[in-house]
Amino acid sequence: MAADARWAWAEIDLEAIRHNVAHIRDVVAPSAVWAVVKADGYGHGAVDVARAAIDAGAEGLCVALVGEGIELRDAGIDASILLLSEPPPETAPLVVRYRLTPTVYTERFVEALVDERPAGMPVHLKIDTGMQRVGVQPEAAAAFARLIEERSSHVRLAGVYTHPALADDPDDPATAEQLDRFADAVSVIPDGPMLHAANSAGALAHPAARMSLVRVGIAMYGLSPGRGVDHLCTELRPALELRARVSFVKQVRAGSRVSYGLRHTFERDSMLATIPLGYADGVPRRLSSTGGEVLIRGVRRPIVGVVTMDQLMVDCGEDDVQPGDDVVLIGSQDGPLGSQQITAREWADSVETISYEIVCGISERVPRIPRRSIDS
Ligand SMILES: Cc1ncc(COP(=O)(O)O)c(C=O)c1O
Repeated sequence: MAADARWAWAEIDLEAIRHNVAHIRDVVAPSAVWAVVKADGYGHGAVDVARAAIDAGAEGLCVALVGEGIELRDAGIDASILLLSEPPPETAPLVVRYRLTPTVYTERFVEALVDERPAGMPVHLKIDTGMQRVGVQPEAAAAFARLIEERSSHVRLAGVYTHPALADDPDDPATAEQLDRFADAVSVIPDGPMLHAANSAGALAHPAARMSLVRVGIAMYGLSPGRGVDHLCTELRPALELRARVSFVKQVRAGSRVSYGLRHTFERDSMLATIPLGYADGVPRRLSSTGGEVLIRGVRRPIVGVVTMDQLMVDCGEDDVQPGDDVVLIGSQDGPLGSQQITAREWADSVETISYEIVCGISERVPRIPRRSIDS
């Protein structure tokens, strides 16, 4: 969508992505960093983020879906692309054609791959050490590795990995227990494959999880994986700002009510500003009832009335807010009291979710604009 087609956009700071990747590389060295760019780069734009991450030294990329891998290949990206779960068997021809590196944990999928007659195609075996999502059981890992070895003219065991369920709580023993189960399972697999076990929280908080490489998503976007590891994220820079312009203003009288359900009543005469972003763009509908705010003219303004599909309203009190004024929904803005900031975490806390869901939830119809093109 053209940048100026609507007065709302997500501004993506690719320099922040580069900075975050470089920082994480420093922290985890000599382990490599693989950048997780699934879900359109956690809402930041997969292709641009992937390029920035590789620029900053990421050695591979991870996605969830075959289609996400194809998007990166079609953009000319040549790096290794790991599919983080096993795709449906019928996608095997695409996996081979686009040189994607599948995660494997069923014989059915391995056979589907072999049927395509690839030559030594790398695959990564996923072991479920406690997340209970996908993967072979630890005691079945060696047999599965042998099954791959027996088909070695077509597939090659390039990696063996697991995924932590609770790495963002460094005090909980669950991560160490998962790593122990992983170590036991790989101890009976011949040396050679890369080993990996860390997401962002694992990479930052659990040195033992770093191994050959870390699969870093949320931290690369400058966001903390969770409160328990906030202290390890102080060097990270958030890479996304959600911005808009005021589309309409009007004076409302004390006692009047606003938005669907007329649930909010103004206690005083107020300047009401309409912002052209709604729940179809990823602004949670209930943000108004949970104390959501936006920045206009450097001041926090409460969202009033329910967020509608395409628009939301904010109470600007007595201030002379005008159509076209800059609005920051997530990000920072200078004001009379200095720089003010609203974070994805603040939204997440407000609606009882996690920053991941907030940034991934910013929908496709919000244009993503690299920061430099705004400044220049
Ligand atoms: C298998 C796997 N590895 C790595 C990641 C990246 O996690 P994070 O964004 O917490 O770094 C994910 C994300 O969900 C994942 O599913």
